[in-house]
Amino acid sequence: MVAATHTTSEGWSSRWAFVLAAVGAAVGLGNVWRFPTLAGENGGGAFVLFYIGCVVLIGLPLVLSEILIGRAGRSDAVGSVRNVAAESGRSGGWATLGWVEVVAAFLILSFYSVVAGWVIYYAGVMGRDFFGTLFAGAPFAGALQGETTETIQQRMGDLFTNIPLLLAMHTVFMGITFAVVARGVHDGIEKAATYLMPAFFVLLIAITIYGAFLGNFAEAVAFLFTPDFSKLTAPAMNTALGQALFSMSLGSAALMTYGAYVSRETKLAPTAGMIAFADTGVAIIAGLMIFPIVFAVGLDPAAGPTLVFQSLPAAFQQMPAGSLVGFLFFVLIFFAALTSSISLLEAPTSWGINERGWSRPKSAFIFSFSAFVIGIACLLSLSVWSDIRLLGFWSIFAETNIFDTIDGFTGKVMLPVAALLTAIFVGWRADRKLVESETGLEGGLFGLWRFLVCWLAPIAVALILVFGLFPGLLGN
Ligand code: PHE
Repeated sequence: MVAATHTTSEGWSSRWAFVLAAVGAAVGLGNVWRFPTLAGENGGGAFVLFYIGCVVLIGLPLVLSEILIGRAGRSDAVGSVRNVAAESGRSGGWATLGWVEVVAAFLILSFYSVVAGWVIYYAGVMGRDFFGTLFAGAPFAGALQGETTETIQQRMGDLFTNIPLLLAMHTVFMGITFAVVARGVHDGIEKAATYLMPAFFVLLIAITIYGAFLGNFAEAVAFLFTPDFSKLTAPAMNTALGQALFSMSLGSAALMTYGAYVSRETKLAPTAGMIAFADTGVAIIAGLMIFPIVFAVGLDPAAGPTLVFQSLPAAFQQMPAGSLVGFLFFVLIFFAALTSSISLLEAPTSWGINERGWSRPKSAFIFSFSAFVIGIACLLSLSVWSDIRLLGFWSIFAETNIFDTIDGFTGKVMLPVAALLTAIFVGWRADRKLVESETGLEGGLFGLWRFLVCWLAPIAVALILVFGLFPGLLGN
């Protein structure tokens, strides 16, 4: 037996507060930026279908698993796993699972804040443009009128080499994240989610309807939902699973940490269902928001990570009221990114509070500041440090800068490893009665969930992990 870790005294004020915060954690850059990017790069329909399969069969059961570890353990991710292991008479070494997750959250936060900084920059550019046209008496003008498409697209390259600007935006975003987390679960995290998430949903629906009427909706639907299975290569499958984990905030302590603040009365299974459903719904709606606009002006759906930042502003130039919609579009992404970065910072912060006895503001400061410093290395690697290789000895990271290495290492290695360990821990090691009562599932439904957690999830994740890390095994 190992000693139980200090348990938390904080909690959500209601079930809805938890749902909003958890959906806020899940819905982020992953949905609005990464999902459309990857769906575009991987050929659309078949990728989307496979992604949905991963969500339902692997993601959903793991969302429930992570939340239940948190609620049963009532501590930070490391402490919660340790507590559940202790209660189940298992080794304290399982705390390693919590460690992998907390470190993943911390590392993701570092580059997430840099990308969110780009969002703030674009929101600023488009906002200035909109208010300029508004005061000039042309509220429905297209975005960035007087600029050529090349100038608009050039902005991103210019931004990447403008270190003071990148740094300023990164500082603003991390600063806001810190300010929210330092205020606590009730006054900070929950409040932010209660304001930002409804605003996010309103904007999402509004811009999607706009695109449906003014863009090329039919082509977008065909692109996203007509599967061409020849495009579903093994690397595309790896990408889809990794994206499902990232998007649902799995393997990165966020759900365990938030789970610890859930009351005993809350039924976990329907809540987990809502989180997975909302997250996937938003990803698909984000696709239906972005691609009609992309197709309307004949842009390349496979543009990659620059799709949202480089292609869309140029598209908004040609669309009616593009200046207003473009501005709202980046505000929307900013809201989504903030509720996610809050959860990324809360994971290590709660570790500092529970395991180190630090005050919340101190803990939040220590972790946001250190993630900020790592983030600086990421943003420098976009220009002056672009030749530095952190894991150059490893073929899949041989060509990637610091930014992409941290992104790739967390996404391709840490999250799947954590998901695999979670499935093994909850499926095979944790006390079965404890698990059953936490899920609140009965009979066949519990059996089905257990089958997915014990067998399907670990085997699928392990396969994808091996082939993702050693693509040579597949001969491509
Ligand atoms: N799920 C978030 C997104 O889609 C990112 C995230 C990952 C948040 C891991 C918390 C933990 O953007």
